[in-house]
Amino acid sequence: MSGPTSPLKAVRGTRDLLPPETALWSRVESVARDVFARYGFGEIRTPIFEATELFARGVGEETDIVSKEMYTWEDRARAQSEKAQSLTLRPENTAGVVRAYIEHKLGERGDLQKLFYIGPQFRRERPQRGRYRQFWQIGVEVLGPVSSGAESPVRDAEVLEMLATLLDELGVKGWQLALNSVGSAEDRKRYSVALREALAPVKDRMCEDNQRRAETNPLRVLDSKDPGDQEIIDALPKIADFLDDSSREHFAAVRAALDACGVAYTVNPRLVRGLDYYTRTTFEFTVPDGSGLGTQNALLGGGRYDGLSEMLGGPKAPGIGFAIGEDRLILVLQEQAETDVEREVALRLDAYIAPIGAAQEPNALRLARDLRARGLRVDLGEGTWKARKHFDVAERRHARCILFLGENEVRDGTYSLKRLNSSSPLVQNFDNFDLVVQEIKRASASGS
Ligand code: HAM
Repeated sequence: MSGPTSPLKAVRGTRDLLPPETALWSRVESVARDVFARYGFGEIRTPIFEATELFARGVGEETDIVSKEMYTWEDRARAQSEKAQSLTLRPENTAGVVRAYIEHKLGERGDLQKLFYIGPQFRRERPQRGRYRQFWQIGVEVLGPVSSGAESPVRDAEVLEMLATLLDELGVKGWQLALNSVGSAEDRKRYSVALREALAPVKDRMCEDNQRRAETNPLRVLDSKDPGDQEIIDALPKIADFLDDSSREHFAAVRAALDACGVAYTVNPRLVRGLDYYTRTTFEFTVPDGSGLGTQNALLGGGRYDGLSEMLGGPKAPGIGFAIGEDRLILVLQEQAETDVEREVALRLDAYIAPIGAAQEPNALRLARDLRARGLRVDLGEGTWKARKHFDVAERRHARCILFLGENEVRDGTYSLKRLNSSSPLVQNFDNFDLVVQEIKRASASGS
């Protein structure tokens, strides 16, 4: 137990995001919103907690997420009319979106629902670089009745092409798209049986985790990274040989559409993904080693879930989506950035106001308000500070200029402006507010 006076810390696996880093988070989210708008997506915000049953039914009882990573609690009833129920912090957002689709009868609108979300998710995983217990996802879901075209391979290709565009616009370098098809629910069942049979005689030679998975969820063996087991895994049956004709044709059409719009990919027959709702197309985008993610090289993952709505008691509503790990995306952008100019730009001030004497502080505040109203980024110091301190603070904030505000300036309605990082030591005087605004803008634009 910590003593009563020891400072409290953020819980293991959670973290605070602070400026200037948060400027990069905002930029990423605004680029994503912009790209999603161009592709016709609207925002959905679902609750952070849901009934535990939603994830048990949607994501799957046997998955790692549901069996060991969820934050679940028994929520007490507060009134006679309420029942106690088991609730869970969402470990992912697809199940919540499909629940909302069913609850609000979005299928009855008839057209394709193209939805995006940005928000925190929670999984009790072992924290490490790029893996947290509270992390952020930027995701999309495209779903609707069959008549809306929701099942068409063109949708898969459009979602993947949009991702390629988004990663390029964000400046992610060297991303790779790995693609696979896991077929229909029936194909997967047949494949699971075949895997279990193939694993039975060899599983004793595998690591403990894989021995367990071979029994409980043999598909999970395929994502094992255990180096000693790779040879056995490579020799296992491939899901491609278990696809029915319609899944096979669907996958071929997705690939043809990707080829047509110039999105590069490799087919990875071992990509089955860790959630039970996937059918047909599954995919992951990775970045090369050394991109800042350590061993967590999956930047994002997704796929089709043609039966999820029915699993949750809804109408037939095929769909496809993905979620980007935003924390991971930020790590990659930070690692790949050549300079941290971007972070500095985000906090750079156009002007810093130095009141001379405490009596000028209210006037300085009013001047700051007037400059900010013109769209300038402005901050102000304390009237009691010495000139040296004003210069130090202005430089630390990357201000382009300092405006000194003393008794004379206030009395005469003038402005004394000194450009920082400029060869000219001069303080320029202006007797007109518009002119000083112009000069500050010129100083910011010239970058000096
Ligand atoms: P997922 O593969 O479980 O898929 O997660 C998607 C992404 O979230 C991962 O690729 C990773 O970047 C990030 N992520 C997952 N766990 C963590 C963690 N503990 N810390 C940091 N980042 C993490 C899904 O969640 C599906 N709902 C995606 C989807 C949407 N499929 C269809 N529609």
